[in-house]
Amino acid sequence: MTIAARQLENSASDRHAWFSQDRLGMFIHWGLYALGARHEWLKNREELSDEHYQRYFDNFDPDLYDPKEWARRARLAGMKYVVVTTKHHEGFCLWDSKVTDYKATNTPCGKDLLTPLVEAFRAEGLKIGFYYSLLDWHHPDFPIDVHHPLRNHPDAEALNADRKIANYAAYMREQVRELLTGFGRVDIIWFDFSYPGRKYHGLLGKGRADWESERLIELVRELQPEIIVNNRLDLPPGELPDVTTPEQYTPRVAPAIASQGVLWEACHTFSGSWGYHRDEDTWKSPEQIIQLLIDSVALGGNLLMNVGPTGRGTLDARAIDALQVYQNWMAVNGRSIYGAGPSELPVPAGCRYTQRGNRLYLHVYNWPYRHVHIEGLADRIAYAQFLHDASEVRWFSHARDVDSNIGVMVPEGMIMLELPVRRPDVIVPVIEIVLKA
Ligand code: GLC
Repeated sequence: MTIAARQLENSASDRHAWFSQDRLGMFIHWGLYALGARHEWLKNREELSDEHYQRYFDNFDPDLYDPKEWARRARLAGMKYVVVTTKHHEGFCLWDSKVTDYKATNTPCGKDLLTPLVEAFRAEGLKIGFYYSLLDWHHPDFPIDVHHPLRNHPDAEALNADRKIANYAAYMREQVRELLTGFGRVDIIWFDFSYPGRKYHGLLGKGRADWESERLIELVRELQPEIIVNNRLDLPPGELPDVTTPEQYTPRVAPAIASQGVLWEACHTFSGSWGYHRDEDTWKSPEQIIQLLIDSVALGGNLLMNVGPTGRGTLDARAIDALQVYQNWMAVNGRSIYGAGPSELPVPAGCRYTQRGNRLYLHVYNWPYRHVHIEGLADRIAYAQFLHDASEVRWFSHARDVDSNIGVMVPEGMIMLELPVRRPDVIVPVIEIVLKA
């Protein structure tokens, strides 16, 4: 790597330092599909025509929309940034875009929904991210492809003859310009997604040549030099994205590109849909959603956790309960998350480590009977306590404090932490181990 390239990289990592510090964000998927209430891909899945889908536009009236309430709940849940779908694959825009009529201001709601959201989240101290769909199932110049609702239309190929992707790429640049000039500082832009290799009955997939990704990203960098750009633009090899975004997947090893560690963020849903889904029932348990967060941080990543608000503009009771789980846990355990990252130490079975400086955090997933044996810490522990109540956790080593009468024998080189028989009433208890300087 040249010196200039390295300097660039260093300054990028300084600019993006907040991101690894913050660790937990809120994803919001909100659009017309909230009315269908059966997944944000319903237009694709049910192969709905524009005429049919129009019913959601004509009835979109989120009269109970209160972004201050969303922002307050996000902050209480310990979330430090938000990424909101300004436009999803359906093509509908939450803001008053000058280059389309397909926007919130023209629905019965009659209002720009993005400006008050940005203001509300900023006021709660959260950073602002915009999700922007590269796919657009409404724009007349977007060629029909494998994901398009008209993919099985008998004249799909013929219909494509009039669709000019270059016009659509220019439209995206205009919209991105609006988003990055009309809302103050934007901290993240989250493009979604590329599929250059996916052919379907003679219809081609789409990637950087279609989106004109290089021009798009140049524009983004010019308008918001500090911004973090995600990895779904299909940039040419060698152009490193700012952040890699595994979706509904918990990596087992930290993601890397060309064996270099990268900034990464897992995104997950509370249930099996991003958009509001009334009848979907695979809501994750409190343990699972807390563990998703710990699993990410333990491998040096962030978690972007999704809510799909309703067509009235509310968070439904199930989403509120799930946010409350984070709120309760983060209120006392946030110290093991913010600014923390992976530890080099070998992890005891059924546990996860995170570490920040000389503080090591042992997250106990499988509660044992009284003892956890840990390696690599002989003579290195200055103090240990539960994080949720600062109650001391006593530790014993092989050399000292062992009662061979009753058969307590800590193996050589190991430390044994003594835990209560009953798990404290915390979803995942955390033991804070202060290491000697
Ligand atoms: C996907 C889906 C989508 C969702 C996104 C979030 O690519 O198309 O509906 O917005 O992932 O990561």
